[in-house]
Amino acid sequence: MSSKPMLRIEGLAKNYGGLKAVRGVSFEVPEGEIVGLIGPNGAGKTTTFNMIAGAEKPSSGKIFLLDQEITGLQTEKLYYRGLMRTFQLSHEYAKMTSLENLMVAGPSQVGENMFMNWISPVKVIKRETEILERANYTLDFLGLNHVRDELAGNLSGGQKKLLELGRTMMGDSKCVLLDEPGAGVNPTLMVKVTEMIRTLNEEQGYTFCIIEHDMDLIANLCKNVIVLNDGQILMQGTMEQVRNDERVIDAYFGGGVI
Ligand SMILES: Nc1ncnc2c1ncn2[C@@H]1O[C@H](COP(=O)(O)OP(=O)(O)OP(=O)(O)O)[C@@H](O)[C@H]1O
Ligand SMILES: [Mg+2]
Repeated sequence: MSSKPMLRIEGLAKNYGGLKAVRGVSFEVPEGEIVGLIGPNGAGKTTTFNMIAGAEKPSSGKIFLLDQEITGLQTEKLYYRGLMRTFQLSHEYAKMTSLENLMVAGPSQVGENMFMNWISPVKVIKRETEILERANYTLDFLGLNHVRDELAGNLSGGQKKLLELGRTMMGDSKCVLLDEPGAGVNPTLMVKVTEMIRTLNEEQGYTFCIIEHDMDLIANLCKNVIVLNDGQILMQGTMEQVRNDERVIDAYFGGGVI
């Protein structure tokens, strides 16, 4: 059963001066699926995410979210359309607690708008209460209750990665791009992270595109895997097909480690 594309990328390219980091990449992420994006270091995976998520302007190509073109839209606009991303290197606010980190990722901080505060304080309080409830639910879901009031800068690498995932739960996410959710996460926590992603997909209807070097996580979650190499799609298929493809083996072992 194949569904309509949540995300469609057409001929996406990014040049940094003379360096062609991404050279004409086209793929689809079907609604309700978890698609893996893998490839050796420097293949252009994060650059591809940066362009989709509005952090980098494509040199050429187009991006569509549910058939609406979103090429070049800023991160905030994408947030309100349901597209969110996490970062390869966690982007926590070190001097804020875990709870506060989630709360600032909540929808439209109406309380920060002085005019709204003055004209409709009840609305502001209601919205802030909703955000607090959602943040507490998210901490519970992630198993981070015990570090609710801890400064995020003091969390372990794995806990910071969980907080990254949690930020995507604070908005009405439909499509979430995860950049190495397993980096720096210990094997026990890795199993939990895998299950959390599966739960968000199956029970909350999130569509995911996941960059990851941990092939177990990819094999466990993704039906379809796209392999990038040197800024281009080398192949796509099931993990089984990817594992047995000579070109993939060459790309990884020719260029470095998996
Ligand atoms: N802002 C930038 N300026 C110049 N070159 C960049 C920039 N960002 C990325 N690159 C280069 O583009 C290429 C692709 O980088 P990218 O970070 O997308 O790779 P990746 O597939 O995410 O690798 P990794 O698995 O190591 O995270 C690399 O050669 C990188 O050095
Ligand atoms: Mg990367």
